[in-house]
Amino acid sequence: MSDNRKYEAQQREYSDPEENAAPIPWVVLLIIAGLFLWGIYYIFSSDLSHDATVGDNRIVADFELPEGAVDGHQLFVAQCAACHQATGAGVAGVFPPLVGSEWVLRKPEVLVQIMLHGITGEITVKGNKYNGAMPEFREKFNDEEMTAVVNYLRTELGGNSADPVDMAFVKAEREKTADKTDHWNGDADLAPMEE
Ligand code: HEC
Repeated sequence: MSDNRKYEAQQREYSDPEENAAPIPWVVLLIIAGLFLWGIYYIFSSDLSHDATVGDNRIVADFELPEGAVDGHQLFVAQCAACHQATGAGVAGVFPPLVGSEWVLRKPEVLVQIMLHGITGEITVKGNKYNGAMPEFREKFNDEEMTAVVNYLRTELGGNSADPVDMAFVKAEREKTADKTDHWNGDADLAPMEE
């Protein structure tokens, strides 16, 4: 191929694409300028006078539950319902019922002691015998939580109706058996307490 014909071939091709400096469209510039001005306006128009550490102006006390606000029902669902069922009806032969149970409705002292230290050994509930293991809650519940659960069991669960207790009562029960580290032995330990 002669040099001349090569040159003609090159002339027929389009040139390679290349980038040109295209100006930014004026609409985009306008938007950027608008945002910029709005930003400056926002900074100067904001109220920055409050203490930044409180963010939305709430203080620590706003997050603390007022006294008596511990939810006994919620604690029951979280800690007891797995065994005694959400209805409190228990599971026949395995987990005794809390609804209508003499241990729940009679002396609140005994109910608190059961919850503090748990039970092993045979226990009779509503005429049926059980022989399982009830875990202790003395470390899981503080006095306020214990009080809330006791009162939920005695005054709400499944229509149970017995007098509620206060926190001083639970505290005193805890102190009475502060040295105890094992479970109550079913009827043998607990029945005499009901007398
Ligand atoms: C791991 C299963 C389990 C959990 C969790 C449990 N219990 Fe029990 N509970 C038992 C068993 C089993 C017995 C019977 C103990 C026995 O046979 O010696 C019992 C007995 C009782 C009794 C005496 C008998 C009765 O039915 O009235 C009470 C009251 C009681 N539990 C309350 C509670 C409360 C309140 C909670 C939650 C704070 C709770 N239990 C959590 C298994 C459990």
